[in-house]
Amino acid sequence: MTTSRISNFYNKTIAERRSKLAEAIAPLSPPDLAPWTTGGLSPEAADHMIENVIGLHSLPLGIALNFIVNGREVLVPFAIEEPSVVAGASFMAKLARAGGGFFATTTDPLMIGQMQLINLINVEEAKLKIYEHKAELLAIADEIDPILKKFGGGARDLEVRVIDDSPIGAFIVVHLIYDVRDAMGANAVNTACEKLAPQIEAITGGKIHLKILSNLADRRIARVRATIPVNELAMSADAFDGESVRDGIIAAYAFAASDPYRAATHNKGIMNGVDAVVIATGNDWRAIEAGAHAYAARSGRYTSLSTWGKDKDGNLVGTLEMPMAVGIVGGATKVHPAAQAAVKLMGVKTANELAQIIVSVGLAQNLAALRALATEGIQRGHMSLHARQVAIAAGASGDLIEKVAAQMVVEKVVRIDRAEEILKALESGK
Ligand code: MEV
Repeated sequence: MTTSRISNFYNKTIAERRSKLAEAIAPLSPPDLAPWTTGGLSPEAADHMIENVIGLHSLPLGIALNFIVNGREVLVPFAIEEPSVVAGASFMAKLARAGGGFFATTTDPLMIGQMQLINLINVEEAKLKIYEHKAELLAIADEIDPILKKFGGGARDLEVRVIDDSPIGAFIVVHLIYDVRDAMGANAVNTACEKLAPQIEAITGGKIHLKILSNLADRRIARVRATIPVNELAMSADAFDGESVRDGIIAAYAFAASDPYRAATHNKGIMNGVDAVVIATGNDWRAIEAGAHAYAARSGRYTSLSTWGKDKDGNLVGTLEMPMAVGIVGGATKVHPAAQAAVKLMGVKTANELAQIIVSVGLAQNLAALRALATEGIQRGHMSLHARQVAIAAGASGDLIEKVAAQMVVEKVVRIDRAEEILKALESGK
């Protein structure tokens, strides 16, 4: 695609937006967009995914515009119920374009499988025995998934940790490091750990208790940076010049960097964007959430996942680094038609490319929140969409939704009781 900037997208109808998408992205045809007209999943397909299915649950699917990731224009699908998130990310991606967009990298897609080895007479001796058999253990683990192996994945390393301050006394944790390529990797890693367990028991005389993947995927990291030219940050309508917005954002970041109470909210703002794309692509957002927050606490004190500062020319520079265990093959990513449409829309060919887009979205979302908080406050941007939701909740439909919402925004009172009053007055022609 040539550009992720589509003018006036916001003001178009849903049908017009769909045809704009099909126009913008050459390999995308109207049938590719079809899963989003229905939500994508049939009850029959859902019945094969989880237990006791009685139906489906929908979320809005919006498109974030303006993203350039590693020089590539990309339209990003967000599945999310919260107003302002899609608009915030799109607007910040527009500001970042002036600095070349987002520059993202990923490590190899290495996941960690954990095996808890208990009932040992001598943990140090057991540890060394495992290392003596490392090559043969890795060879066994490597054979577990021939498909992964064919695509260049497989067992990479084995690490042995002694835990000596636990409530049951000393035990060992064996970490199996596994390259899962384009999969999320939980299945491959869990299977490999289960396969290795009897061998490790035979080598050490102990007992493997738990065998499970770790969601602290700190070997599978996505990193991104973006530079926002300082003049792009000016908000003339609010009389904020670029320098003061930049310094306000940096001071807001300092708050999150130093205070876990603020860091939790700051990181939640990052996850607004991250989760929206993770969900749209059928990935496991609980795994991503768990990894993100554990990583944010890796120093022993919970802190910000992002950083904000300035470069030698005074431009704003943001960075974000976090685990990103997402896949594009297997699981819901493969069976959910809307997830497949999302992957196709972004034109990603590897899980790492998807991770690079997601971490870029996280940084954009963080900037949207900090810029609003450091200037006009968060409520103004939230107000009009929130007002529409309140108007609908008060019973407004059709044109009345916009009218009731607009009146509440003017009055700066967005409450259901006021929406009901305005609706009543409008309906009775007063
Ligand atoms: C709301 O969903 C997210 C924010 O609270 C994030 C933040 O405070 O940085 C606005």
